[in-house]
Amino acid sequence: MNPSWGACDRVKAFVPWTGGKMKLRDEIVARFPPKVSRYVEVFGGAGWVLFHKDPGPFEVYNDFNGNLVNLFNVVKHKPEQLLRRLDWCLNSREEFELTKDLFNRKVKMSSVTRAANFFRLIRMSYGSKCVSFSAQSCDLERSFPAIRAAHQRLKNALHPMTWNKHFSAASS
Ligand SMILES: C[S@@+](CC[C@H](N)C(=O)[O-])C[C@H]1O[C@@H](n2cnc3c(N)ncnc32)[C@H](O)[C@@H]1O
Repeated sequence: MNPSWGACDRVKAFVPWTGGKMKLRDEIVARFPPKVSRYVEVFGGAGWVLFHKDPGPFEVYNDFNGNLVNLFNVVKHKPEQLLRRLDWCLNSREEFELTKDLFNRKVKMSSVTRAANFFRLIRMSYGSKCVSFSAQSCDLERSFPAIRAAHQRLKNALHPMTWNKHFSAASS
């Protein structure tokens, strides 16, 4: 780890996501070559590996889930607006169903509103799958430090990230 990155040391994913590489991240990063000049996280998900690796000069987060990509983009560029939208949110089956319905009907929202709603939908859902209500308590405020840390890490990416490209299309 480059000591000059200080506060960015070993950032954790700020959102749960199916298939996240939390437990494998050490194993994966240990297999990287000593110098990585370009890093493209093609199936970004929660970004466990991207957040765990040393920051580099060229990093890309990619995922074909546009709501997830928008969430990462807002964490990078407008974290405080996102946190304001997440403050005092209620957790209930009704809130879950209303939020899910917004996405099912593809209701147009600002990037920050869309990010906040998607984050809430993930956190309120069973197994983070955005399908059914989890009926577990979830205190969104507990995620705020992780969102701030992710912002710092994404902010320090020296190359602007590109977003939301379907990998097979982008690589053809
Ligand atoms: C298992 S998750 C990745 C987990 C991630 N490595 C982590 O540690 O959090 C797989 C991700 O790949 C995305 N995905 C699947 N097929 C894709 C494709 N063809 N192009 C881009 N992203 C894709 C899914 O939306 C999902 O977020």
